[in-house]
Amino acid sequence: MKVLVIGSGGREHALVWKISQSPKVKKIYCAPGSAAIGELAACVAIGSEQIEKLAEFARQEKIDFTVVGPELPLTLGITDLFESRGLRIFGPNKAAAQLEGSKAFAKEILRENNIPTPSFGTFTEAASAKRHIAQYPAPYVVKADGLAGGKGVLICATRQEAEAAVNEILVRKTFGQAGQKVVVEEFLVGEEASFMVLTDGEYILPLVSSQDHKRVFDHDEGPNTGGMGAYCPAPVVTPTVHNRILDEILNPLLAGLKRKSIVYRGVIYVGLMITKDGPKVLEFNARFGDPECQPIMMRLKSDLVPLLEATIDGKLNQVQAAWYDDAAVCVVLCADGYPGSYDKGAEIHGLDKLAHWEKGFVFHAGTGKDNGRWITSGGRVLGVTAHGRDIADAVREVYGAVGEISWDGMHYRRDIAHRALT
Ligand code: AMP
Ligand code: GLY
Repeated sequence: MKVLVIGSGGREHALVWKISQSPKVKKIYCAPGSAAIGELAACVAIGSEQIEKLAEFARQEKIDFTVVGPELPLTLGITDLFESRGLRIFGPNKAAAQLEGSKAFAKEILRENNIPTPSFGTFTEAASAKRHIAQYPAPYVVKADGLAGGKGVLICATRQEAEAAVNEILVRKTFGQAGQKVVVEEFLVGEEASFMVLTDGEYILPLVSSQDHKRVFDHDEGPNTGGMGAYCPAPVVTPTVHNRILDEILNPLLAGLKRKSIVYRGVIYVGLMITKDGPKVLEFNARFGDPECQPIMMRLKSDLVPLLEATIDGKLNQVQAAWYDDAAVCVVLCADGYPGSYDKGAEIHGLDKLAHWEKGFVFHAGTGKDNGRWITSGGRVLGVTAHGRDIADAVREVYGAVGEISWDGMHYRRDIAHRALT
């Protein structure tokens, strides 16, 4: 069978890597892909937001099914377009993808279904947002409503900072269109976890738990990023927490979506805070997490393809996922300046030493090739991912591999998975 993967980052490299191991698959295409993905798939020069061209390509090439990596094509309605043409595609339709595309929509559905989430207010005017802030004690969480690459969330220690954040979003429009509305949220204390499930709208197949590291520097300091590293499983998701996430969050969510006549098919990513009162929802994503997808794919023992197909075809009750009984850790190596503006074009050294690495794989998030040399081309550059007997073993393995790689200005966190080790 022929599969098309849409996207070009570390998550898509991991999806292509896993799909390429499927005996069911004869050919993989990736649009637009990257030089590294090109070692496993045929890259197609169509951007992930050019949904009309992608549909045309899928039709011409008789693609058996398409897998959408990033959120943008989903919120643009790629699934609606493909389905209207009889093309099979993995990822929620436009209405369902609002779960990620609009934090205000997500908050509304959480409230309607009594799903635990921090209390909040949604505002389009700075003055009303500030009046709301004045009623509560610090700290505050101020979020741009729309898509902002994981950077639209500002944690504010004082009222002044929160008011400044409101001005940034609503008045100075730092996040453009994504900042037409602002969500002001109660600050929650606890440990974060990422929980992803496949769903066909009816059945839920949980994937293994994981934990991301959003802040750029060690000890969770500095600004938020798209994610600096992830490990899996996350011990904070105990069997009890796991069941509560399904009973108190995902089952009511699916029921609530159904009541709105929304059929959700694809991955639901729940960003959680595990508080002393139990799991609470911080955000939803309509796609695999990046970098969480990388360690999760490494631990997936089953063929991914039948799982994706069952999701598309509404047959998730007929499949099961088997996992390796080990742990996996991904450390993201970033370009100088990330998550602010960053340099491109630095030569990456040492990748050749990991070409035959047995205990892991280097997923490329933002690299290119120039005259046979690997160079940086994005903010998050590589996701070095290893597995091990347990988290401690995987951490040792992954940082050993990271030590082989270098470029000018490379930076990364040295404490990925620390919470699982204490
Ligand atoms: P989000 O994109 O909404 O998941 O927010 C990005 C990050 O900001 C989260 O991973 C948390 O680290 C932090 N965050 C978001 N909302 C809250 C909250 N209500 N309380 C505490 N931290 C939060
Ligand atoms: N790692 C967080 C995300 O994919 O949104």
